[in-house]
Amino acid sequence: MALLRIPEDDTVVSEFDEVWAQLKSINIDYGIWKTDHELPENPSNDDILDAYSTEIERAKTEGGYVTADVIAVQADTPGLDVMLAKFSCEHWHDEDEVRFIIDGTGVFHINPGEGKSVVALEVGAGDYIRVPKGTLHWFDLCQDRTIKAIRLFQDPSGWTPNYTESGKEATFLEVCLGPSFISN
Ligand SMILES: [Fe+2]
Repeated sequence: MALLRIPEDDTVVSEFDEVWAQLKSINIDYGIWKTDHELPENPSNDDILDAYSTEIERAKTEGGYVTADVIAVQADTPGLDVMLAKFSCEHWHDEDEVRFIIDGTGVFHINPGEGKSVVALEVGAGDYIRVPKGTLHWFDLCQDRTIKAIRLFQDPSGWTPNYTESGKEATFLEVCLGPSFISN
């Protein structure tokens, strides 16, 4: 269940319908996929892709995606900081960035432009997000520095980051409030 923060207004939204509507107003698709599929204890990437095949096929049909894979990193993943640094500066892609979170947490900052406020979407297990091609954004892991996610691609070669070099990300803290925020 995602949390949507608007740092410039100091507001936080956690109710699904409101998160969905606010994201829709800036052209970001957000949804929740069931996470109760049967998975073995230490699922392989193929186990995950098999378990979510129905949702993956539906998303492929709706979005024109042709391939899906699983990205998994954790705090001790070699080269993690170098990998993260590629995505923590404001950038855009020439194709959609589509993620379904299996495990872990992260935060997408979205810069809608046109004078609209930057939003920070904190995602966790069960969250689906589509950042359309050309949308300015950046991504950080939360404090657990772990994420496992299904990625969908129209063409993986289009997913190279194009950097704005605006430095916009430096004015926003990469904070995550965590699931305890919702229960408080
Ligand atoms: Fe990206």
